[in-house]
Amino acid sequence: MKRGFVILAAACLFSCGGGGSGTSSIVTGNDGVPATGTSCVTPATAAYAAACALGRGVNLGNALDGPNEGEWGVTLNDDVFDRIKEAGFATMRLTVRWSNHAAATTPYTIDPAFMARVDYAVKSALDRGLYVVLDMHHYRQLDGDTRDAGEFAVADAVLEDRMVAMWQQIAEHFKDSSAKLLFEPYNEPHGRQTAAKWNALLARVLETVRVTNPTRLVIVGPVQWNNASALKDLVLPKDPNLIATIHNYEPFQFTHQGADWVSGSSSWLGTGCCDATQRAQIVAPLDIAARWSQATQIPVWVGEFGAYEKAPAAARVAYTRFVRDEMEKRGMKWAYWEFASGFGLYKQSTGAWNVPLRDALLAP
Ligand code: BGC
Repeated sequence: MKRGFVILAAACLFSCGGGGSGTSSIVTGNDGVPATGTSCVTPATAAYAAACALGRGVNLGNALDGPNEGEWGVTLNDDVFDRIKEAGFATMRLTVRWSNHAAATTPYTIDPAFMARVDYAVKSALDRGLYVVLDMHHYRQLDGDTRDAGEFAVADAVLEDRMVAMWQQIAEHFKDSSAKLLFEPYNEPHGRQTAAKWNALLARVLETVRVTNPTRLVIVGPVQWNNASALKDLVLPKDPNLIATIHNYEPFQFTHQGADWVSGSSSWLGTGCCDATQRAQIVAPLDIAARWSQATQIPVWVGEFGAYEKAPAAARVAYTRFVRDEMEKRGMKWAYWEFASGFGLYKQSTGAWNVPLRDALLAP
């Protein structure tokens, strides 16, 4: 169906990262889906300007979100931050399993040696001019999941208080950091984090963070693993410094083929991408998020997407370029999952890039 277009607004306040232009606008089709080819959706608020400046990003995954650093194959060193910067990424999302490095009982003190590793990563990225999204990842018990090997248990009754206490410490610790550091209270709430429970817990975390970081940008995501269709259930306090996030792994049977943490996924091996049905699966969540964003005037950032290394290589590249283009058409900035592990762009052992995949993300 042919669409009519309406231009709604405005200009970037910051310079737009990731190849963005200085000017941008929201263009909507007559079905209300923002459908602009311009670089950013930017009403004149700090949150929209920052969401624009996040540009193109990458997750530094499977390092500090493993039960212990190195156990999931990625160990931090200066090379990691140099490579991320040199490749041209504007943002690094640092995924961190705080829960395995904080005391099980009140006051739930975070291990200073672990905090020093997080400090090192945050500072290394900020010093190179990157934006950093610092999250809390894989607090397995909070979602009611089975613990990973190497992960200790805490009493169920303290799970949520402990999360708030960990954020109190993280927020205090980083309160004087650059505004290019953003916090993300929790990756992919799901399971026993129902919308009602999660909305209440998120409100507590935000209230705690705001005591020491009144204006820091905070990235907030809905339940069901940050699924766009759950954005409608996300209840947020009135706070101008929030950016919403979704994760998009559609089509799941393509992106997660052969993933050993997804049961049955070996039978998907050989799935290609992206035919018309798969393209529709990829853009559907983006359109849901774009409509939600327009209705709420809260910017949306796609914090994870990517395809596992067992997917056919050429299809992986085609998928990556397609998702990137569709996000950018909608003025959404993003972070690829992830830098140097199973979905990775780079091999730490050889220092080699997966060039076609990197180009699919960053080349013109
Ligand atoms: C998880 C990773 C997982 C990825 C893709 C992320 O949110 O933290 O462990 O590999 O999603 O499934």
